[in-house]
Amino acid sequence: MDIHTNIPIKNLTTMKIGGNARFMTEIHTPEEIETVYKNAKKQSLPIFVIGGGSNVIAKDEGYSGIIVRIRIPGFEVIADDLNSTTIRIGAGENWDSVVKRTVDMGLSGIESMSGIPGTAGAGPVQNMGAYGQEIADTLQSLSVFDSQTGIFILLTNDDCKFSYRNSIFRDSAKGRYVIASIVLKLSKNQPQPPFYEALQKYFDEHNIKLFTQKVVRDAVLDLRNIKLPDPTNLPNSGSFFKNAIVEAWQTADLKKIDPNIPLYDMGDGKFKVPTGWLIENVGLKGQLLHGIRIYDKNALVLVNESAASYADLAKARDEIVRQVISKFHIQIEQEPLEI
Ligand code: EPU
Repeated sequence: MDIHTNIPIKNLTTMKIGGNARFMTEIHTPEEIETVYKNAKKQSLPIFVIGGGSNVIAKDEGYSGIIVRIRIPGFEVIADDLNSTTIRIGAGENWDSVVKRTVDMGLSGIESMSGIPGTAGAGPVQNMGAYGQEIADTLQSLSVFDSQTGIFILLTNDDCKFSYRNSIFRDSAKGRYVIASIVLKLSKNQPQPPFYEALQKYFDEHNIKLFTQKVVRDAVLDLRNIKLPDPTNLPNSGSFFKNAIVEAWQTADLKKIDPNIPLYDMGDGKFKVPTGWLIENVGLKGQLLHGIRIYDKNALVLVNESAASYADLAKARDEIVRQVISKFHIQIEQEPLEI
């Protein structure tokens, strides 16, 4: 295992911002996780685990510990019956290659999450989701290294306490577990309506009436192409903010501010408000703030056009947050994690 020193973190993240990491290493087997943690403990070095870096933002002061980049491979069918196939996937596998493979096998459950950048092991951290599916729907279990006890354990779906874009991995157990592999149980049935609104609209517009896993995957890839900038040309972290969740009692006030505000009933007394809509409706879509472009095709995405530093990004973010509070009295939250 090679240990690199003074590595620019910006090269490890798709936002391309931030200072240097004191140490960085890449891990290809679960056993190497244990070795790194043992050695880091001896030297009292903090550890930050990274996958594809598409949901992580680095600060200008850099990181004084060791960044561990997970590269563990693996794609193995571990159970198969009439209706489903269960697959164990190494945390370092490229997520979209995994989706493609399962779609080619005629399996459904993750096809709507096609085209999401990053690794398979990063998915459970933020309960990755798109177009009506989230990883919590198909995730059976995970093999994780517990840095508190120094052993590998199996966590079940329930253990992860998944909710909208959240789990124990970025909340109560932040920094404790390193995900080595995930197990997904996928269905052999074809995708069934009702579909996510934007997906159904796409099917109607293209006169698509037969829904296979591949049809859904191709539609999602097309939709993403239109709405999400490719991080290889335009540095970004996907949705920069979570959608806002408001209480039922707030909705009347919001409708007074703008009668057209979209409110999605979540069925638990709460309503989801698309943050992209809020940002667009304070007039910021397409604007450039401190080198950060509020993407003109989707205001939920911030593109690093010419920002020199994390400080610039923070100024742009805080200005957006401030303007949304000022008009809609809603405090929007950043989605990517920070090193
Ligand atoms: N909207 C606007 N203006 C905008 C952007 C969106 O009015 O500039 C409105 C849309 O018209 C739509 C609503 O907001 O009515 C919701 O938009 P969309 O369906 O595109 O999804 P989203 O809520 O903006 C979420 C995820 C995306 C995921 C899409 C599709 C979050 C934070 N983001 O975005 O995930 O791809 O749904 O399912 O939940 C990511 O997490 O990085 C990500 C890209």
